[in-house]
Amino acid sequence: MFNLYTPSPTVEERGADYFIAPHPKPRTQMPNLIEILMGSRHSLLDTWVEGSYRNGIDTHRILGRQVIFVNAPEWIKYVFVTRNSNFERKSPQMRRALEVLLGDGLFISEGETWKRRRPLVADIVHKTRVPSFGATMEQVTANFADGWAAKDGAEFELTAAMAELTAEIIAQTVFGRNLGSSAANQVIEGFTKYQHAVDNFNLGYFLGWDEGWPILHGPGKKRLVTMVHSVVEKVINDHLAGEGDEGSMVALLVKRAERSPGLGLDVTALRNEAATIFMAGHETTATTLTWAFYCLAHAPWVEQAMLDEIRAVCGDRAPTLADVPNLHWADAVVQETLRLYPPVPLLPRQAREADQIGDIPVKKGDLIMIAPWLMHRNYDCWENPMHFMPERFMNGARINPLVYFPFALGPRICPGMNFGLAEATLCLATLVQRFAVRPRAGYLAEPVCRLTLRPDGGLPVTAKERAAPRAKAA
Ligand code: HEM
Repeated sequence: MFNLYTPSPTVEERGADYFIAPHPKPRTQMPNLIEILMGSRHSLLDTWVEGSYRNGIDTHRILGRQVIFVNAPEWIKYVFVTRNSNFERKSPQMRRALEVLLGDGLFISEGETWKRRRPLVADIVHKTRVPSFGATMEQVTANFADGWAAKDGAEFELTAAMAELTAEIIAQTVFGRNLGSSAANQVIEGFTKYQHAVDNFNLGYFLGWDEGWPILHGPGKKRLVTMVHSVVEKVINDHLAGEGDEGSMVALLVKRAERSPGLGLDVTALRNEAATIFMAGHETTATTLTWAFYCLAHAPWVEQAMLDEIRAVCGDRAPTLADVPNLHWADAVVQETLRLYPPVPLLPRQAREADQIGDIPVKKGDLIMIAPWLMHRNYDCWENPMHFMPERFMNGARINPLVYFPFALGPRICPGMNFGLAEATLCLATLVQRFAVRPRAGYLAEPVCRLTLRPDGGLPVTAKERAAPRAKAA
């Protein structure tokens, strides 16, 4: 069970105080092996002690394996930037868990394959392309908001709702606007169920196999993979036959493949990259939105400031992507949410060769853990690290990228960062303008860390249309 620090102040008590975002109380003693193993199954957030939230490097031995937690800016730079070539490999757990679905897709590839493909994917989701996806983002969010209005205040689960919204946006931007709802649902369902079925832990790796053990997939999981692959391959083949949506990311991938035969991008490679962008590009944004609504509901003074700004910028019309640079509060809420609840709370890396991090000798195959969760709440680097204070991201604040890195950093930084930030800000502003989203009274959202950081058991909410509904989008 999960203890909190102090309860958050009520609005009346607030004074100079702020909402303290829920988090597990650090342990007073280092966990033993069994507790770490149990923790990795349930949530690694429960295994940390007070000192984990300070600058430092910490080592653990799990069975035959050294695991090194790096939580100091200069050594984070060393791992992600200076010695990135030695620490670019994802952990065997992650590679094994995702290889069947993503093949050699960018998220888990490495070495020459990663080097060749990275510029291709980075170009497709580059910030200069984001405006071309604006109409899709706006339309999908507007339709989604109409669905909320029809719920008429009934309770629903917010994580699933946000996943539905962001999956629809990414499905239409990656695969095209003529994908069709049945095919889109097949992909979305396949990914969602697959991610729930994968395990965080690979025993073989901790027993000494550097590559971990291959995971046995039962017929159920194989069916999900086939379901996803068949839809994505059909979309690619349609594009190759000149029948796809010209504005989609797959269209860009296919054009690149045709223009640069040297890249060796066959249908399988294109499928792996399209599937990777789809997977990497929606659940992260969905959990960001879920936590943002949770924090806003507990910090009405922030919600009010955000609403006032949306009204000043947009009046009665719905926000558009072009408004996003002027929605400073919405942007700051998204950034502060990413600080407190980074959707990817752990960035594990496997050492390719022996190395040294600070005083700690690293052996080939060791696991290096860098946790945005810990660094974003580090008492040596942040003032009031547990408080929800979007103001820290406003007025041109300069935040050190070595202490704030929800999108990772160095050569493997998330290429979809600008897409994700713009999308999250637009969706949040559009929905907040129209609805007051409130968690079930007294409900405590406890963060758990699996592949992404989610509220344990979801987040039951109601979305009540605001008293003076705005005019419909033009
Ligand atoms: C709030 C939204 C998002 C967050 C917080 C986020 C976070 C991250 C992080 C932390 C990584 C690095 C993981 C690691 O090194 O282990 C990553 C990688 C990646 N992300 Fe995102 N992401 C977001 C949205 C997106 C979007 C919208 C896209 C695409 C449209 C995307 C595409 C990718 C890809 C392709 C990679 C693999 C990059 C590589 O390994 O070179 N992400 N993301």
